[in-house]
Amino acid sequence: ANQECSGNLKRQLEKLFDASLRSTVPDKPRVKPVVTTSPLDRSGDYQCNNAMGLWSMIKGKDSQFNGPPAVGEALLNNLPTSEMVDSISCSVTGPGFVNVVLSTKWMAKSIANMLIDGIDTWAPAPPVKRALVDFSSPNIAKEMHINCHRCTLARMLEFSKVEVLRRNHVGDWGTQFGMLIEYLFEKFPDTDSVTETAIGDLQSFYKESKKKFDDDPDFKEKAQKAVVRLQGGDPIYRKAWAKICEISRTEFSKVYQRLQVELEEKGESFYNPYIANVIGELDSKGLTEESEGARVIFLQGFKIPLIVVKSDGGFNYASTDLTALWYRLNEEKAEWIIYVTDSSQKQHFDMFFKAARNAGWLPDSDNTHPRVDHVDFGLVVNGEDRKRFRTRASDVVRLVDLLDEAKTRSKTALIERGKDKEWTPEELDQTAEAVGYGAVKYADLKSNRTTGYTFDFDAMLSDKGNTAVYLLYAHARICSIIRKSGKDIDELKKTVELVLDHPEERALGLHLLRFAETVEEACTTLFPNVLCLYLYSLSERFTSFYSIHQVIGSPEEASRLLLCEATAIVMRKCFPPSWNHPCLQD
Ligand code: ARG
Repeated sequence: ANQECSGNLKRQLEKLFDASLRSTVPDKPRVKPVVTTSPLDRSGDYQCNNAMGLWSMIKGKDSQFNGPPAVGEALLNNLPTSEMVDSISCSVTGPGFVNVVLSTKWMAKSIANMLIDGIDTWAPAPPVKRALVDFSSPNIAKEMHINCHRCTLARMLEFSKVEVLRRNHVGDWGTQFGMLIEYLFEKFPDTDSVTETAIGDLQSFYKESKKKFDDDPDFKEKAQKAVVRLQGGDPIYRKAWAKICEISRTEFSKVYQRLQVELEEKGESFYNPYIANVIGELDSKGLTEESEGARVIFLQGFKIPLIVVKSDGGFNYASTDLTALWYRLNEEKAEWIIYVTDSSQKQHFDMFFKAARNAGWLPDSDNTHPRVDHVDFGLVVNGEDRKRFRTRASDVVRLVDLLDEAKTRSKTALIERGKDKEWTPEELDQTAEAVGYGAVKYADLKSNRTTGYTFDFDAMLSDKGNTAVYLLYAHARICSIIRKSGKDIDELKKTVELVLDHPEERALGLHLLRFAETVEEACTTLFPNVLCLYLYSLSERFTSFYSIHQVIGSPEEASRLLLCEATAIVMRKCFPPSWNHPCLQD
């Protein structure tokens, strides 16, 4: 069991306090240890906060304790001895807070071990083996929006040794296809010969067909019939559909390549063959009912029902999502399914999750598996009017355009800042991409996802504050210290003892050791910004250490180089792969 949490300090302390609780209050077996990191003004690194709660359970009736502080003292006294705790420095303060001071020697040893055994030994161990992350999931013939790159949750789970099915739930089966196909037939009677370039930009094609759909009742009727023919499997309609999807897919994959996002497409259409059976199962469980010609599920707490079969007999977004969920649980055996979208879809997810619970597919309680979560991102807004982020022409902002601009801007900045650097054009290009795309991504991840944020190129490409560029600078500085020392780090790892004698070294070391619990927190709460904040504080802590202490040429040089190396390793684990470019390391 120790192995499970070898890198996770908080979990290890919980185990120690659990033992202490068992001997302090043997008749309260249900009380779980509450261990948190200590606020900066406290005298410990972690604290156990059980005393007050326990006191309210056991006070009165000839209690052996006379108040919460006494309970705290007992918890501290009963703490099993452990190498990790500096028991002499621990204390009890206030209403029974047990302040835990870690042994500095143990901390140094743990970091040294990680250097030898690798950062993976610090991976958290979530209680699931296989997760499915549904992210990106753009709609065919529409533009990819800003949230199409959010793969950080998948990466964190993968680091935690969870098998992750990265799923692209592409919108390739909606009613928009009726009008797209009819419009294609109209514009290109010879459908077979239509090429990508002939259609041109699919989004304008989409807009034109939509306009026709809205303006021309005959066309509208044709389009509606076309959906039925497509979904019924008419080969001509299928072919046209496939063509449109293919063009879109080519565009999407360019963006995925630029961002180095990997994921597997199983679009809405993939589930089509299963929908009827799944809806049938819901019918036979008595969950659905007839309402104005449609089949719906009424759900407690919602004013409107969830429509699962439309009045024309067609299936919709909800039918597909219910079926996809069924497939993911039963065929793919996913224990945890995570949907990443913007918050405008919250109600949709709340509703079909509830329907799935009613069907008995998911347990009632939130903490058992299989589990589903909707990870909703708030609105990205414009700086000027705080309205939904749009272009002047009030269109959605195309992710490709954002990436282009980010690259151009970061190239300019690179040329300005690094006048002395002699980069080849390719190197400059790759670096500008890594920094520019990374900056867009980082700015998106670092804010609390539910509140949304203002899109601002200047802020995201700034080298000050919690930005990608600041982090990259900190990392590059560490790399150059190590390089300039001329020392062989692998040799040092084996021969030199790492020490954390000075307060800044210890503070940096402690922060490094909090990596595992931070990743765990980011994964369990599904808030990637927790990890961004960690990374930013890590850079800050490194800066305070480095601004006070000399590394190269100091008596502690070898140990400090190891501390530098450990910091760089943790940073790189958080960075996107493109940030490992050699040009970004000096
Ligand atoms: N295609 C949808 C959109 O662009 C997102 C799909 C999210 N995933 C899902 N299983 N519903 O809004």
